Amino acid sequence: MIVPVSRRPARPEPCCLVIFGATGDLAHRLIVPALYNLAEQNLLPDRFCVAGVVRTDMANDALRDSLLEGLRRFATLPVDQAIAQKLFGCVTSVTADAADPPSFDHLGAELERLEQSSGTRGNRLFYLATPPAAFAPISRLLGHSGLLRETGNGWRRLIIEKPFGTDLASARALNSDILKVATEHQIYRIDHYLGKETVQNILVLRFANGMFEPIWNRNHIDHVQIIVDETLGVGHRGSFYDSTGALRDMVPNHLFQLLALVAMEPPSRFDAHSVRTEKGDVLSAIQAQSEEEALSNSVRGQYSAGRIGDTALAAYRDSANVATDSTTETYAALKLAIDNWRWAGVPFYLRTGKALKAKRTEIAIKFKQAPFAMFSCTPVERLAQNYLVIGIEPTEGIALQFNTKVPGPSVTIDGVEMTFRYKDYFKAEPATGYETLLYDCMIGDNILFQRADGVEAGWRAVEPFIQAWRQAGSQGLIPYAAGSDGPAAARVLLERDGRSWRNGG
Ligand SMILES: NC(=O)c1ccc[n+]([C@@H]2O[C@H](COP(=O)([O-])OP(=O)(O)OC[C@H]3O[C@@H](n4cnc5c(N)ncnc54)[C@H](OP(=O)(O)O)[C@@H]3O)[C@@H](O)[C@H]2O)c1
Repeated sequence: MIVPVSRRPARPEPCCLVIFGATGDLAHRLIVPALYNLAEQNLLPDRFCVAGVVRTDMANDALRDSLLEGLRRFATLPVDQAIAQKLFGCVTSVTADAADPPSFDHLGAELERLEQSSGTRGNRLFYLATPPAAFAPISRLLGHSGLLRETGNGWRRLIIEKPFGTDLASARALNSDILKVATEHQIYRIDHYLGKETVQNILVLRFANGMFEPIWNRNHIDHVQIIVDETLGVGHRGSFYDSTGALRDMVPNHLFQLLALVAMEPPSRFDAHSVRTEKGDVLSAIQAQSEEEALSNSVRGQYSAGRIGDTALAAYRDSANVATDSTTETYAALKLAIDNWRWAGVPFYLRTGKALKAKRTEIAIKFKQAPFAMFSCTPVERLAQNYLVIGIEPTEGIALQFNTKVPGPSVTIDGVEMTFRYKDYFKAEPATGYETLLYDCMIGDNILFQRADGVEAGWRAVEPFIQAWRQAGSQGLIPYAAGSDGPAAARVLLERDGRSWRNGG
């Protein structure tokens, strides 16, 4: 939902939100608080209901109480009892399990009954907030039981959570399964990074300002850095993470969404088809690397014990549900090239890791150095690098680094920074990041959701790294202390090109 200046978004049409995985963490931590925030802003349909799908019978009150407890714990706004009561009053628990196909007939009958009583006109939004292994079986049964059929009796939409596949083959298989029962316009593949205001703002920054586009190319840009550093360790996600790793968990989805927004060509129209086509195209243009090149253009690390601030963190291999001889990476840095006219010769350096010194998500665009002869009296190392930095976390904003004259009789040059921070200009209420995504699903706008070709292009680009790292096993997996900048080899990845990470590391 990118709202035109001064136009308030409209309330969506009546609909029923059907949440598979209603007892899970995502439903409690993010979906329900986001629904509350939408209700608080009057952005839920006036006729609305929630069917929480559970696998074993649960009374309505028990599900409502559990979700209400989730709201109390994870709300981003003070909870108004009247709004909460209205929201939870429309929650119904429905039992259905993909392991028991006839239970989907029961689900269909229950949905019809709910629609009658709540007046939601057959519009249904199915949210698969379940482990990924359940995405295909649930979609298949929704399809076979006719629940996804749009026959003039309301729209049917399907939200699929991340991760979408674990490699190219599994992403293709999942797309193929889902596309057998739903058309692309019905499918909303979530990447919650796209719910962040600053991420959406990349498009506005690039295409609503005439000054950036003329210099947004290989003639002026030296390279691009995309950094997602985390301070947290693996926490309670050991079992999931150990079979996933930093690369699969973060790169084909979150980091590539950022890359696509920075590197895509201007879409001819601001609609889902045009934007997603351009994003898919640029991801497809990421240069394919041989396994040898992939090894040379990447660094992977795993954290050992250390301290983050005042807190001691055990080594990754000593975390719950992680193999003691695990070779799963908790840090990944890649050098990529984009094979097209705009970006030929401009490297994109991506890095992401856990248990690092500081939390930071940013995109840093480094411009080429100005011809320096005029100021030869100033040592070159004193010149600031010209970076345009799009800060996503913890600071949301945009900064421009440039050189200026230090006041005084001599011409001395120093670097300064011009900064825009969202919070200084806009009074955005704290949010979960899921509000926009849920709202967009309800109004049928899939501009912020991934299309099948984009997902597959992302996996295709990381495939050589997955293969090369699998072959290499523990060789090349570099330990780094928790609370550090990550493996020193990641610094070398840029230094060998005469470059450096903007903020260390
Ligand atoms: N939690 C987050 O912060 C977060 C953030 C981003 C994305 N996600 C994604 O969201 C999804 C759910 O994550 P979660 O953290 O909520 O997991 P979770 O806490 O383990 O909850 C999983 C939910 O799915 C249900 N479920 C499990 N197996 C199922 C099956 N075979 N068929 C139908 N339902 C099944 C569980 O129901 P039972 O009670 O019956 O077991 C439970 O309600 C995952 O795909 C995850 O990657 C989560």
